[in-house]
Amino acid sequence: MGGTNPYIQPAETRLPTRRYAITFQPMNVRVEVDPAKLPYSREGLKGSILEIALGHGVEIDHACGGVCACSTCHVIVRQGLDSIPEATEDEDDQLDNAPGLTPQSRLSCQSVPDGTTDLVVEVPNWNRNLVKEEHH
Ligand code: FES
Repeated sequence: MGGTNPYIQPAETRLPTRRYAITFQPMNVRVEVDPAKLPYSREGLKGSILEIALGHGVEIDHACGGVCACSTCHVIVRQGLDSIPEATEDEDDQLDNAPGLTPQSRLSCQSVPDGTTDLVVEVPNWNRNLVKEEHH
């Protein structure tokens, strides 16, 4: 599944213009994001934390397919939250249903970092699937 949800106000996005990194915790997977390679996968908004994670083998639940219609893609942005536009009302409404909500909580399918800083993103353990480590 993928695409956009016609019933919600679209999230404001500002795609990055330079490379930046996201470190996913607690699996400690560091991903270098290259704006020229977006999107890395097809779920969630282009450039969103969800699509970048899935494209690098970091599994985050995304029951609605990344269209802001569930709360399973909840993540906690431990560093770099300022580089993501504020949540829309629709995102906040969905987030209200997420367990373990924090002030740094976001829906990863709706959160598009602008690349001005590196991020540290925690995937809550109830949202974590198998992490496929790349073999070097
Ligand atoms: S995957 Fe459903 S809201 Fe993000």
